[in-house]
Amino acid sequence: MTNNLIAPSILSADFARLGEEVDNVLKSGADVVHFDVMDNHYVPNLTIGPLVCDALRKHGVTADIDVHMMVKPVDRIIPDFAKAGATYITFHPEASEHIDRSLQLTRDEGCKSGLVFNPATPLSYLDYVMDKVDLILLMSVNPGFGGQSFIPSTLDKLRQARKMIDESGFDIRLEVDGGVKVDNIREIKEAGADMFVAGSAIFGAGKDSDPNQYDSIIAAMRAELGKAESKAA
Ligand code: DX5
Ligand code: ZN
Repeated sequence: MTNNLIAPSILSADFARLGEEVDNVLKSGADVVHFDVMDNHYVPNLTIGPLVCDALRKHGVTADIDVHMMVKPVDRIIPDFAKAGATYITFHPEASEHIDRSLQLTRDEGCKSGLVFNPATPLSYLDYVMDKVDLILLMSVNPGFGGQSFIPSTLDKLRQARKMIDESGFDIRLEVDGGVKVDNIREIKEAGADMFVAGSAIFGAGKDSDPNQYDSIIAAMRAELGKAESKAA
């Protein structure tokens, strides 16, 4: 089992062939399915909900599903995603009136819990809940759309979050989401991330019916991650 998790964001997949697209990225070596939920309220876009998550499970997807909720409020929909087969459920702290309760609810429902930080959201939201998160997700773009450019100040924020995780002693994943490509994934890894969302970079690599179309892009990302690791060793 690799320590670096590559999580294609299905936001950039061909939704008319979603099951097949997910099968193909997983077959090409992706680890986790990143599932972007947008509500046209917390973010200015509208995507998919628990029905689609459930459909992927019924289609036969057994990989972890990482539900990134860009919705407000959050509590009512958490149990629905748990029943639909989510592995991770993350939410934005600004979208919950009671962050501690929402994190606890996620774990009570049997899922791994996480907080998501917009580019301008301070990490201090973590101060009293480090024991209640399994995942910290730093947005490297403003949420709502795929295909945006990586915001460079995320690298410093990643270093800060990595330090907080290491000092806490808890087993917490550090995920980054937005503008991740082959040419920047190495420095993102070196800044401390261990879970990498990529939407347009992966699904933009090909849209035809070739089931191996994602092999080379995922292999290229893995190779860059490997370089970061050999530098650290
Ligand atoms: C943006 C979403 C991302 C998005 C990333 O709000 O949370 O997961 O799909 O897309 P890329 O990798 O294209 O920036
Ligand atoms: Zn996302």
